[in-house]
Amino acid sequence: MSTKAKETPAAKGNGAASTATSSSGVESVLRRHAEDQFAAELAALQEVDDKQRPPKWKLSPWAVATYVLGGKAGGMEITAKYIGKRRLIEVAIATLATDRALLLLGVPGTAKSWLSEHLAAAISGDSTQVVQGTAGTAEEQIRYGWNYALLLSKGPSREAMVSSPLMKAMATGTIARIEELTRIPADVQDSLITILSEKSLPIPELGEEVQAAKGFNVIATANNRDKGVNELSSALKRRFNTVILPVPDTADEEITIVQQRVKSLGKALEIPAELTGLDEIRRVVTIFRELRNGQTEDGKSKLKQSTGTLSTAEAISVMNNGLALAAHFGDGSIKASDIASGLVGAVIKDPVQDRVVWQEYLETVVKERDGWKDLYRACRETL
Ligand SMILES: Nc1ncnc2c1ncn2[C@@H]1O[C@H](COP(=O)(O)OP(=O)(O)OP(=O)(O)O)[C@@H](O)[C@H]1O
Ligand SMILES: [Mg+2]
Repeated sequence: MSTKAKETPAAKGNGAASTATSSSGVESVLRRHAEDQFAAELAALQEVDDKQRPPKWKLSPWAVATYVLGGKAGGMEITAKYIGKRRLIEVAIATLATDRALLLLGVPGTAKSWLSEHLAAAISGDSTQVVQGTAGTAEEQIRYGWNYALLLSKGPSREAMVSSPLMKAMATGTIARIEELTRIPADVQDSLITILSEKSLPIPELGEEVQAAKGFNVIATANNRDKGVNELSSALKRRFNTVILPVPDTADEEITIVQQRVKSLGKALEIPAELTGLDEIRRVVTIFRELRNGQTEDGKSKLKQSTGTLSTAEAISVMNNGLALAAHFGDGSIKASDIASGLVGAVIKDPVQDRVVWQEYLETVVKERDGWKDLYRACRETL
């Protein structure tokens, strides 16, 4: 039997407290949970929210959508967490109010995990019941495991049982999250079927079961590109409503996403520089979009496509890196030389194929474009 349970519920000890929302609230953690970081926005929404809430939901579906997409709550500005089509978010939220689970599907970096965390935070006030799917995910991480010391000394009992995040969410009527569902081996995925259709989790060792309280549901994420890894069985697929998260439609939309995230990440990491202007973001986003689509934005030239995904998430990290370089080794304002190495690293994932793609792009597009000489030179230097 495998004992590699990843979660350490004993350490958190908040299993029973269904209303406990924040875990630590400590300012010094590197990355705060959404429900802690945006506690003020959630509280403001709760105050003005007079629409009907599904059982156990902290907010009405309308208020959850406002939290995710941004808007106003009384005097408070609610920041947009997800930038994209409103309808997609409405469908996702509405699904969670039914007895079907939600599957967020998309290429890497389309905010699947990000959205799943925010939905759980807004609906349940707790985004921490997560199973991280890997090829090594075992059934105990979906169902329950045992604390072997207690099992040996006390025998099978509730005390000796280690609940999975799903079991905890069932008991408390909250949202559980499963990351990278398709990486989980098929037989382990199947243990989800009873949970999702019967809404109960039998514990044969104790002759008991855990029945899901109202409010329980599951948000899973999966990567389009990983499809071949472990296909979802059709039995499992039927228990999910799938929402496909697209790559941003337009360059402007993508620039807004990158700008917003870089700003808030820079603040959280206390990088002593701020993005002024959008010029560098526009260049990075343009390069990513052109290489992703295999043609220049004006549609005039065809390009070779890179093997990497060049997602919005990678554009965010190129900019973030550049900002750190500018802050600590430059004059605080981001320049072509600060983004060049990140850019080249993001594009060249395959050392042979992508190098050819990048070199062609550099010589035919970057070199010739008005006002891009500095970037051309900086990129040449890092090759
Ligand atoms: N449409 C969008 N709106 C807001 N943020 C976005 C959007 N698209 C991407 N992002 C940002 O991209 C980053 C990466 O997102 P996330 O990690 O959720 O991607 P993912 O789809 O889970 O990728 P993977 O398949 O690699 O797990 C997040 O910081 C998120 O803010
Ligand atoms: Mg993810």
